Amino acid sequence: MLRIQNAKSIAGTLINLDIPSEQEATIDATGLTLLPGLIDPHVHFRTPGYEHKEDWRTAAQAAISGGYTTVFDMPNTLPPTVTLELLKEKKSIIDKQLKEIGIPLRYQLFFGADKQHLNQIAKVKGQVIGIKVFMGCSTGGLVIDDDESLNAIFKIAAAENMLVAVHAEDECLMNQNKKLYVENKEYAIHSKIRNIQAAVIAVEKAIHLTRIYGTKLYILHVSSADEVELIQKAKQEGLPVYAETTPHHLFLNDSAYATLNGKAQVNPPLRASKHQYALFQAIHDGIIDTLGTDHAPHTLAEKAKAYGDCPSGMPSIEVALKLLLNAYHENKLSLNEIVSLTSKRAKEIFNLPETNDFVLVDLSKQTTIQDSQMKTKCGWSPYAGLVLTGEPVYTILNGKTYPAVT
Ligand code: DOR
Ligand code: ZN
Repeated sequence: MLRIQNAKSIAGTLINLDIPSEQEATIDATGLTLLPGLIDPHVHFRTPGYEHKEDWRTAAQAAISGGYTTVFDMPNTLPPTVTLELLKEKKSIIDKQLKEIGIPLRYQLFFGADKQHLNQIAKVKGQVIGIKVFMGCSTGGLVIDDDESLNAIFKIAAAENMLVAVHAEDECLMNQNKKLYVENKEYAIHSKIRNIQAAVIAVEKAIHLTRIYGTKLYILHVSSADEVELIQKAKQEGLPVYAETTPHHLFLNDSAYATLNGKAQVNPPLRASKHQYALFQAIHDGIIDTLGTDHAPHTLAEKAKAYGDCPSGMPSIEVALKLLLNAYHENKLSLNEIVSLTSKRAKEIFNLPETNDFVLVDLSKQTTIQDSQMKTKCGWSPYAGLVLTGEPVYTILNGKTYPAVT
């Protein structure tokens, strides 16, 4: 039995908790606040094929130190997860790596929609958390940029009762935009090429497909007020549409190119600061349901490449909770909202079983984010140098305690 004594609930009441466990231990949680273990519906743990950026040994350590006990991994690996066979292979590699590191991180996999393998979707029903559709190109080669395939995917998913998660950026508009800026090699151009209009076109299209087929739709990494407005309308219409935002769209904006250079390049890109306010408001209004870290590690050498060769994405799973707790201190989020974003809504949307996973946080501890502390294999954070208040102290996964602090 694992005994947690004297913890505080988010409502401020004292809690003593007995968690069935092989371990006989007592944690004196005086001064600590108990939250459910965090669920990250959106990570890129890079295995197989890109293990120089990350693998499940390093990623599981990063997740646990960030308070996360469950992750959903994306299919843009090498090879991409687009057949039943590849899905099985990926699972066996992950299980092996998690066993090696001794962290039984809970995970689910998204299946990649691919034009050549649409017949595979029904075959993986029950074995994946949903189907990932890249409506615009991002890291890896997966893209569905034609209406015929999109219709087919939404139709199959509805028939099989599977969820569709969309990376909603319109490939056609982005290709047009690219031509306007061929001469310009500044990283900041990224936000102009992959502009808000590209996101709006794709979000509108995805919502319309849900309207036609009734497919459960999860809109990944919502980054702008404009998308929020469309999602609000879809929800008011009663459509099964759910929305995620990311730490970087909440806590960074397009002024970050000036200091972070290529490290600030991400898809969808960073937006003007007014969109950050709109995203926080959308959380208060229940329009944004979840926070996905979109943990997308690339090496420092890769991120130092010139615009055009620099890959998009940034790591964040081990700092996301600290950013959220700090936002609580700044009166930008309540603890209830943090729990909603990081576990409650994900459990509801993805029908996850109840677990005995928790994270104990010290709400008042101040820390400085440092690259040298990062457990992710890529070894850097876009938030390095930030002083944040509030940090995870213990992560409890399936009755076992892992110290979260570095
Ligand atoms: O910035 C991004 N990086 N956006 C994506 O859609 C993919 C991700 C990655 O895998 O690197
Ligand atoms: Zn992603």
